[in-house]
Amino acid sequence: MSSVRICPSILNADRQNLSSEILRIASVSDLLHLDVMDNKFVPNFTFSFEEAVHIIEQSPLAVDSHLMISDPDIQAPLYAEHGSASVTFHLEAASDVKSLISNIASNGARVGIAIKPGTPFSSVEPFMADIDMLLVMTVEPGFGGQKFMSDMMPKVAAARSWILANQLNDLWLQVDGGISLATINEATLSGADTFVAGSAVFNSPEPAVMVRDIRLAAEKCRTA
Ligand code: DX5
Ligand code: ZN
Repeated sequence: MSSVRICPSILNADRQNLSSEILRIASVSDLLHLDVMDNKFVPNFTFSFEEAVHIIEQSPLAVDSHLMISDPDIQAPLYAEHGSASVTFHLEAASDVKSLISNIASNGARVGIAIKPGTPFSSVEPFMADIDMLLVMTVEPGFGGQKFMSDMMPKVAAARSWILANQLNDLWLQVDGGISLATINEATLSGADTFVAGSAVFNSPEPAVMVRDIRLAAEKCRTA
């Protein structure tokens, strides 16, 4: 079994042919990363709730929903209820974080919390023991194809140190934004083990080969 997880984002895939795009990477990927944006929490819109549920229900690959929405307290548990394997909400948008965590978990999904570049690790630390994944954003959420923010690596390293110190080995540490063959080593060496890659995968002529190459690079770093 691989020690890392690769989660291709379909944000910049061909929206008219999503099911065939998903099929191109399904057999080599761990989760399908679904970026839901509401044009309120971020200045971009991707999928309505109904469209997102349709993708979750049709996907041959388990879905990792990344909710960049302003009302996760109400909406996030519904993604779990509709079969998303993992549901990640933004700490900055949630009102009652503890209740939201249990409302997602009670619907059978893994629970993730995402933090934007300006949000310190200390803000999420009180919730770490109750979640399944921390997502440290390595770009400002909103758009694919942005430059990887190396200055987020100390935050990733702080999260990894906390996970090790507290022996929460099942807590995944995800990075999202600008992940490619050029940045995977840095992200892995900082302590990430779960990687979202959008444009690097879908702008590649062979997306499945790119997923494999990113995975191999990350595995090599983790065993180095
Ligand atoms: C940004 C999204 C990311 C992003 C990934 O708000 O959460 O998932 O689209 O795309 P790349 O890999 O192109 O940065
Ligand atoms: Zn994302």
